[in-house]
This record gives sequence, C-alpha cells and structure tokens, in this order.
Amino acid sequence: MRLLDSRDHLGELPRVGPRFIDALESSGLAGRGGAGFPAGVKWRAVAQRSRGDAVILVNGAEGEPRSKKDRVLMCARPHLILDGAFIAARVLRAGRIVLYIGERHTAARDSMLRALGERPEPERGLVSLAAAPARYVAGAEAAAVHMVNEGLATPTNTPPYPFERGVDGAPTLVQNVETLAHAALLARTGSIPGTMLLTLAGAAARPGVVEVDEGTTIGEAIQRAGGVAETPRAVLLGGYFGSWVEPERAWKLQLDHRSLRDQDLGLGCGVIGLLPARGCPVCETAGIMRYLATESSAQCGPCFFGLRALADACTRIAEGGADPDALRRLHRWSADVRGRGACKHPDGAVIFLSSALTVFAREFAEHASHLARRIA
Ligand SMILES: Cc1cc2nc3c(=O)[nH]c(=O)nc-3n(C[C@H](O)[C@H](O)[C@H](O)COP(=O)(O)O)c2cc1C
Ligand code: SF4
Repeated sequence: MRLLDSRDHLGELPRVGPRFIDALESSGLAGRGGAGFPAGVKWRAVAQRSRGDAVILVNGAEGEPRSKKDRVLMCARPHLILDGAFIAARVLRAGRIVLYIGERHTAARDSMLRALGERPEPERGLVSLAAAPARYVAGAEAAAVHMVNEGLATPTNTPPYPFERGVDGAPTLVQNVETLAHAALLARTGSIPGTMLLTLAGAAARPGVVEVDEGTTIGEAIQRAGGVAETPRAVLLGGYFGSWVEPERAWKLQLDHRSLRDQDLGLGCGVIGLLPARGCPVCETAGIMRYLATESSAQCGPCFFGLRALADACTRIAEGGADPDALRRLHRWSADVRGRGACKHPDGAVIFLSSALTVFAREFAEHASHLARRIA
C-alpha cells in the first residue's frame, strides 16, 4: 500500500499502544524531513520523558525551495498525516499537537484544516496551528520549537533538544508530515509501505512529485516518471544541502538512506534536481550559495560572514572576474566555516559546495581562469 494510493480517511484511529514503538523501530522507518533519523528512536526518547505532557509538532514547513512533496501530501492525504499525529499523541501520551505549516503553503494548510474539521471534537481540541516563516532554516526542528514558543524561528543545535525540552518546555516529537503518514500506514496495515516521495525538478520531462519503492535506482525512478526533457549535465541529489553527482553515477544509485549514506550521499527531503545540458554548473552553484547565504539567521559570525564570502567568491568565479587564488580560497574558507555554526546550516551549505568543487572541478577551473564564457 502506497501513501498516495491509500484511503485517506478511515473514520476511526487504529488501536495502538506503547508497543507500537517496537513496531516502528523494527520497521526501520527513517525521517523524511532531511536527516533520515530513525523514527522509532525518536518516539522512544519522547515516550521515556513524557508525563502526559508531550507535544507532537507536525513539520509541514517545507522550506527547501525545490521540494513540493510535503505540500502534495498535505493536499492529497491530510487525514493520513493527522492519523500519524493522533497515533503519536496516543502512544507518547501527548496532550497537544501543533501543525507547523509553511505560511505560503496556503492550499496545504487549508486542506489540513478542512480534514481537521472532519475529526471528532476530542481530537480537534488537541490541535493548534502555527505558521512557519518562508525561510530555509525555519523548518529545522529547533527553529520550529522556537517559533511556537517565542514567535521567532531561530535554529540551534545545542541541548536541551526538542525531545528533552521543546514546546512549552515539554518533551516534543518533531516529525515531518511524510514520516507521520508512513507511521499511520504502519498502524493501519502492520507494515510500512517501503516507499518514498520524491520531488523531481529541473530537466525532468514531468517535474513534480512521485512515490517510488525504496531501493529503486534514480534512473528507474526518473524513467517511470516520464524520463528526461534533455540529457542532464548533473544531478543535485537531496536539495540545497545535498550533493552534485555525475549523471552516470546518479542513474545507478539506489534510493535508500543507508546505501546512500555509505557513499557519503544523502537524499535529504527527497529532491532530485536535474541540471539541463546547457546549464552552467558554476552559475547554478553560485546562485544556490547566494540563496543559502541570505538564508543564514545571522546569529553566528562564521555562518553569516563565511557563507557570504563563499557566495561572493563563487559569483566572481562564475562571472569570470576572479583572481587566480580564488579557487584555493574557496576550499580554505569552506573548511573554516564547517562546524562553526549553532546549527547545521553552514555545514549543509559547505557539503553542497564541496560536491560542486569536486564534480565540476574542470568547469570551476575554467571559469576561474577566464577561459569559459557564461552560457545563458
Ligand atoms: C536548515 C534546516 C531546514 C530544515 N527544514 C525542514 C523542513 O522544512 N521540513 C522538515 O520536515 N524538516 C526540516 N528540517 C529537518 C528538521 O530539523 C527535523 O529533522 C525534521 O523535521 C524531523 O522530522 P523527521 O525525522 O520526520 O524527518 C530542516 C533541517 C535543517 C537543518
Ligand atoms: S549557523 Fe547560521 S543559520 Fe544556524 S543559527 Fe547560526 S547563523 Fe543561524
């Protein structure tokens, strides 16, 4: 049973108790918001701390610019997501559920609210809504908690973590909407669907959201979704915190979190971006670095100034106006920025940039030495 094929509303919640966490752990369900963290481990951590006061924070911020899968799911299967949240509330003895939905994702929000209106009063009474600002870092779990608590979506990555002290100081499960939908199907059917939602972007023949079986290769996934509009020059796997991969390699990669991690790659929130054959990878990389630099929450110097410096250097190289030392500086500054922020934002940006400097080493060198002309 797939998420997008399942019946949305069954009318009553499956009866599950604390032992559901064992099933969740054995299912191996990995989070779909970006980090791929095992859902069962998170649920157990919150369950151990809950005194009937836990909070479920349903993450529908979807701040990744090229991702659409969370919005598609919120529009198509809102009850399945709510089921996941109510099951989590029951299992973790939570007294509150917060739907944290991107402020610009109005169709998704309306769909979730419509579905909520169809639920019985005792369920409805648990739920409140919070708008996630349209910023890249606003979907990070600590930012989501801060937004609900203080009205400012500032990220951090330091203790206490949300599972210890989150919304209103209570143990909080922050879970992506897709992860909750998988958990709901596990409760309904006894097994997870073994699928994942992907957003195909760029030179795909039919860009958009597809659901594929885990273990499918990227080549098969793209083929089944209609193929490519033109031969891609490179594949951006995992969105803006992801990595550029050469198409020949990307096509053979299996879509499963573990095998990708073994190869130092990640699926992030499931974005697969195909750079068109005529696209300039250096310009594209510079554009994404500029975006990530402007999305820094400006709390940490190395992130705020470092990402700016990296983005400026990339832009100069892309425009053919860099000095001969520019490439060496890019490498050095990347190392300086990594691990120096209060959250993972600079690390994600640097992972992305390092992949560009490796996969497009020749193109960067050509741009840096004024040999290339920018292709519009
Ligand atoms: C900068 C940044 C942005 C993030 N944005 C989102 C987001 O928009 N939606 C989301 O579900 N998770 C996002 N995450 C991941 C969350 O921090 C968190 O890991 C996730 O919501 C947990 O749910 P999951 O385990 O079901 O994936 C982001 C993380 C970072 C570091
Ligand atoms: S590392 Fe960057 S995004 Fe993260 S808290 Fe510091 S300034 Fe904000």
